[in-house]
Amino acid sequence: MKQPVRIAVTGAAGNISYSLLFKIAAGEMLGTDQPVILQLVEIPQAMDKLRGVAMELEDCSFPLVHGITLHDNPFDGFKGIHYAMLVGARPRSKGMERADLLEANAAIFSEQGKALNDVANRDVKALVIGNPANTNCLILSRNAPDLDPSQFCAMTRLDHNRSLGILGNKLGVNPSDIDGVTVWGNHSPTMYPDLHNATALGESVIDQIDESWYKTEFTPRIQKRGAEIIEWRGLSSAASAAQAGLDHMRDWALGSEGKIVSMGIISDGSYGVAKGIYYSFPCICEFGSYQIVKDLEVNEYGQSMMKKTEQELLEEKAAVDHLLPADTAESRENLRTSTDGQTQFDNGVDAASAYYKADRIC
Ligand SMILES: NC(=O)c1ccc[n+]([C@@H]2O[C@H](COP(=O)([O-])OP(=O)(O)OC[C@H]3O[C@@H](n4cnc5c(N)ncnc54)[C@H](O)[C@@H]3O)[C@@H](O)[C@H]2O)c1
Repeated sequence: MKQPVRIAVTGAAGNISYSLLFKIAAGEMLGTDQPVILQLVEIPQAMDKLRGVAMELEDCSFPLVHGITLHDNPFDGFKGIHYAMLVGARPRSKGMERADLLEANAAIFSEQGKALNDVANRDVKALVIGNPANTNCLILSRNAPDLDPSQFCAMTRLDHNRSLGILGNKLGVNPSDIDGVTVWGNHSPTMYPDLHNATALGESVIDQIDESWYKTEFTPRIQKRGAEIIEWRGLSSAASAAQAGLDHMRDWALGSEGKIVSMGIISDGSYGVAKGIYYSFPCICEFGSYQIVKDLEVNEYGQSMMKKTEQELLEEKAAVDHLLPADTAESRENLRTSTDGQTQFDNGVDAASAYYKADRIC
């Protein structure tokens, strides 16, 4: 039996976590042979509700759950963790401006970045799900000077999965038969779902669909799918967001088996994207780290879509710039490269010790 790994989940009493926690506990994220210790983090006002969720987890008697701890602050909740699922965030309330929302979340993610820096395991992987996810992720990473910027991701996997699901229905194929879809940029309505390099059962997707369907139906639908779900369900996406978080972390930790997945990661300047922002790129995961898939063809339309979403991220960054510690700017903009010029997206762990760390001791 493997040693248990420690997983922190913030916003653990909220809607997404109500799906996510039970899937993690059942072994759907890291495998049915990987015991887990769940370290659940909430705001003080939600601790009673969190206790109820923990009781339900206990009542499932999941064999993989070796411990559940409840915390009202990240400095306790992140102690020794190997994985962080950062779901909790400040929602936009009535009359709140975009800048106020960014600032309110900046306070949350600065504190959580400092906590990860101070108390988490040195090879922690942190996934930001709470919105605005990309900029929250930037704030988190900039507040953790001792961790590598590649240890942080923003979740765009839901947009990726939505693209596979809707495209699969259109073409009459199983979503698992589709490869090469990329969602570029921000997790917001400016994101660019790119099908130009996608294949279904090995055949080019773009040759099988109508350009006007792609540009005027598919693209806006993916970009605004969150709002469409709210319109019909009366509540925001929760189970699908939980599944996407689980898919992202599983592939990052255990590998994407050669498939392209979309991940909001630190930009190394690939495809001309500004360095130092968390932007969604096509990635392949292996041995606990990811690499950007290079040299995909991007046409003029794609380039303009990619610029638009990059511009939005740069504006979000500018709005919180005064809150970002200056001393981490350099390490986020000039990433380490290996002798062959490849960017080292390596979670701060060299390849040899990545094997060693597979069977962890808490
Ligand atoms: N990236 C994506 O694809 C994606 C998809 C869906 C939802 N989201 C975002 O995920 C977030 C959570 O969604 P939800 O439906 O679970 O919301 P929710 O309101 O049901 O739950 C959020 C929980 O977070 C907690 N929380 C707030 N601030 C916290 C803090 N500082 N520390 C710990 N916990 C804190 C709240 O008490 C609440 O229980 C939202 O920001 C939502 O916009 C992102």
